[in-house]
Amino acid sequence: MAETVILAYSGGLDTSVAIRWLQETYGLEVITLTIDIGNERDIDAIAAKALRIGAKKALTVDARRDFLDYFVWPALQANALYEGEYPLATALARPLIAKLLVDVARQEGATTVAHGCTGKGNDQVRFDVSIMALAPELKIIAPVREWKMTRDAEIEFAAQHNIPVAATIASPYSTDVNLWGRSIECGILEDPWAAPPRDVWEWTVMPDPPLAPTEVSITFDQGVPVALDGETLGPVELVQRLNQLAGEQGVGRIDHVENRLVGIKSREVYEAPAGMTLIAAHRALESLTLSRDQVRVKEMLAGEYARLIYNGLWYSALHADLMGFMRSSQRYVSGEVRVLLAQGHCTIVGRRSPHSLYQHALATYDRGDTFNHDAALGFIALWGLPVRTQAQVQLLPGHDGSVLPDLAATPRSIAPAPVE
Ligand code: ARG
Repeated sequence: MAETVILAYSGGLDTSVAIRWLQETYGLEVITLTIDIGNERDIDAIAAKALRIGAKKALTVDARRDFLDYFVWPALQANALYEGEYPLATALARPLIAKLLVDVARQEGATTVAHGCTGKGNDQVRFDVSIMALAPELKIIAPVREWKMTRDAEIEFAAQHNIPVAATIASPYSTDVNLWGRSIECGILEDPWAAPPRDVWEWTVMPDPPLAPTEVSITFDQGVPVALDGETLGPVELVQRLNQLAGEQGVGRIDHVENRLVGIKSREVYEAPAGMTLIAAHRALESLTLSRDQVRVKEMLAGEYARLIYNGLWYSALHADLMGFMRSSQRYVSGEVRVLLAQGHCTIVGRRSPHSLYQHALATYDRGDTFNHDAALGFIALWGLPVRTQAQVQLLPGHDGSVLPDLAATPRSIAPAPVE
């Protein structure tokens, strides 16, 4: 009996051709798996297409909620931005898709899984490493990486095999979309000096003339957003609404020359209106509810966390360890943040929490100040003691001209006004 492969199927040219190619090249029975992670497609029509092309079975899963709960929220809790810029929409979806491929392969008794990645990107690494970690016994085939057909050859193959090719004029861009963002590359974007043309943007508009600013309040419960303007919403609806609200104010555009894991620099633009707004709001709430040391260590680890996600190591022991820290850090990150969305900017204008560490009586310069000013003197004496000691014995920056010249070498003197 022929072995079965589970193919992650998007309905596009590559994975459509892959159905027949896997049958012909490897003699495999093909079951397709199409996953909804908020990429705005007609999933049922895609499954029907897979069956028409020759898949034995076409499965679909709505994984939008799981995507947010298990992949996006941990990244948000960590404020994960790859190289300080990219909120990782594509990268976060890969370990989810890998997990679903593995689960379905086990249910269907398949020996092999397949995905449509090329041999140049990060995504092949993320899929392959995730699948290896979850199910080392499964074989992995990446047809596009293997077949080395040009686009024309693929269209030719499709014609010969009665595979329907979308009649629409092919977009010059390669895009990947889910609830957490849109990723757009190729075409003119491959010139890092070329400004992104208008047609790359689909979720964001820069309103001209400007719209009146939108203010929205976001409620978090232990680092997870749960309500907008006081209205409790499920995760999918909350992200969709925020993508809309922030997107129509032009918030969440990112233009990034990034370092791919495979060693290439690539220029990609992103739209992540909800993502960028939520990360800004979440950080604002952390600034109120975490200690200085928690914020500092968390910031150090956020970069590591983002890199790990980007580099395909979701299913690693290091992730479990980092996740433990991140999760624990969120115990008191509950409260509300006011965000102003206007003209491409998301500005935090207020925050409050029942667990706030902000003490008005300590902070105020007005009446009611309870801060012990005298204690500051003793504190400074001890804080500065090592510097004072060292300055008495060694040359430090500013002691000679080597680091800092003498700034007051020729002081100007201003004569006192004559007394009448
Ligand atoms: N550079 C992003 C990443 O590696 C997105 C990759 C997919 N982008 C695309 N336009 N198909 O996570």
